Amino acid sequence: MCGIVGYYGKENAAPFLLDGLKKLEYRGYDSAGIALLRGGKINLYRCRGRVRELGSARREKGQLGIGHTRWATHGAPSEANAHPHVYGKFAIVHNGIIENQFELKGELLARGDTFSSETDSEVIAHLLAYYYEGDLLAAMQKTAGRLKGSYAVAAMCEEIPDALVCARSKSPLVVGEGNGGVYVASDLSAIAARGVALYALGDGEFALLNGKGVTVYDRDLTVIPKEPLEYDPEAEAPDKRGYRHYMRKEMAEIPAVIGKSCIDFARDPAYEELTRVLGRTQRIHIVACGTAYHSGLCAKFAIESLCRIPVEVCVASEYRYRNPIVPPDTLALAVTQSGETADTLAAAELAKQAGAYLVAVTNVPYSSITRIADTVLFTGAGREIAVAATKSFNAQLELLYCIASALAESKGGQSYFAELHRLIETVAAAEKSCEEVRGWIPYFLGARSVFFLGRGADYAAALEGSLKLKEITYLPSEGYAAGELKHGTLALVDEGTPVVALLTDPALAEKTMNAVHEVYARGANVFLITSLPEYVSRKEVSSAVLLPACRAEFSPVLSVLPLQALAYYLSIARGNNPDKPRNLAKSVTVE
Ligand code: AGP
Repeated sequence: MCGIVGYYGKENAAPFLLDGLKKLEYRGYDSAGIALLRGGKINLYRCRGRVRELGSARREKGQLGIGHTRWATHGAPSEANAHPHVYGKFAIVHNGIIENQFELKGELLARGDTFSSETDSEVIAHLLAYYYEGDLLAAMQKTAGRLKGSYAVAAMCEEIPDALVCARSKSPLVVGEGNGGVYVASDLSAIAARGVALYALGDGEFALLNGKGVTVYDRDLTVIPKEPLEYDPEAEAPDKRGYRHYMRKEMAEIPAVIGKSCIDFARDPAYEELTRVLGRTQRIHIVACGTAYHSGLCAKFAIESLCRIPVEVCVASEYRYRNPIVPPDTLALAVTQSGETADTLAAAELAKQAGAYLVAVTNVPYSSITRIADTVLFTGAGREIAVAATKSFNAQLELLYCIASALAESKGGQSYFAELHRLIETVAAAEKSCEEVRGWIPYFLGARSVFFLGRGADYAAALEGSLKLKEITYLPSEGYAAGELKHGTLALVDEGTPVVALLTDPALAEKTMNAVHEVYARGANVFLITSLPEYVSRKEVSSAVLLPACRAEFSPVLSVLPLQALAYYLSIARGNNPDKPRNLAKSVTVE
């Protein structure tokens, strides 16, 4: 994680660096800094906390600069650990993890270097100083040759007033040229508003950015041609469009977004190839993290029920180290909003190497997953800024259900596309009822913990509801299989404990109600999310949100809406910023 930016050009660098860093805060926001070159000297401005703390640096002069917004991995969030890191004449910003940092540090300390931070990144500045013989690019190549792990790096040197050098391995990096300047950033959102030509740096590549523009090199420093990225500057520019938070704005976009996912799927140029692959698919492995993992769990219920094809859903960080069994005709689905999650990328690569056909379900064009997948399906949710995923989850569900429908058809079964298309209106109707959860907030405000219960697809949705709540309210909560509660966790339920029960499958409703009786008998306040009107006024239920009916297999796309709203409103009521929860970042590009 972490966001990096850099600029050299005819303007002062500070405004671009600070504005760019603000757009990259979704990658981390526990400390920030910029370095500007002025009169042959590097001037450093760093702070603990958000980029806005650096506001006074905006007026500082210097046409060459680099900047960083940090999500701490090695070393606590502090000014000393904030990037840029300066050693001698060199300043660097880094996103990634240097896994052999201790070995390198030992070597550098033995040579007499002293370190001023606890970060792994600082070794990069030291290595540059060690290898520099008047050519910054060559020093960067030698430095990169010593690094193990992941990195996107931008560096500058006091001796070179008109150039930046970058290197990339596993962590994303975009470089650009135009409007009298050259640019580098972790992703195109930081630069897009400039409307300049942008290029994605590949693994093992380097870039020299100077007055002549951008030159990209391979590992051996041979110049390589690059195609500019296609992008829409407006779509890439984050804007709350009148909403107080990005999260609320993104929730409001859900009906439109799932419509787009459904329509785009049928028109996707990859559709034919995918249908051929589905025809021979015998089993599916889904790898993902966090919310994307939960959409995988929801998809498992739909695919197994509608297609009778076994689906294994695995947290990517487990899959990658588990030596998974991947028989022939396995389809691997890597589900990732950002397309940059390190664990998901590694798990997807592993599945592919083991012989699986790899389909990526992602929201971000040009992301790393798009470069390794055999087929890429885009969720088309548009930029998601809030750290807590909302619209991307619903879009992933819709797309995964479309895959389930295509798979069912390819096995001679029925199509569910018409039904999935109708979901667009159903979701729009359901979205309105979500506001009703605002009345629940007083019951949750003083709670010590919260439970989310469900069976079948409701259980998968319950897990997502619980994750959302933890993430932005910091309240301990558990998503639980309703039937499993009595095997231990029931001991945690006492007078006034809020319990949210999901009830959308008529075949499982009475079974879930058994758990509702059990928690009610222990004094819990039960809040119901259901599409079954007959349960709304049961005596055990304190309050209910009634959702429109839909096929049980697809119900999470609806039932998650009030869960997202509950987390959002409770987060605000507890005085938090739902867009920027503590300790988290949107894109987790480290292990
Ligand atoms: C969701 O609210 C989280 N912020 C997080 O769990 C996220 O879903 C996870 O890190 C995976 O991200 P990805 O979809 O970009 O791979």
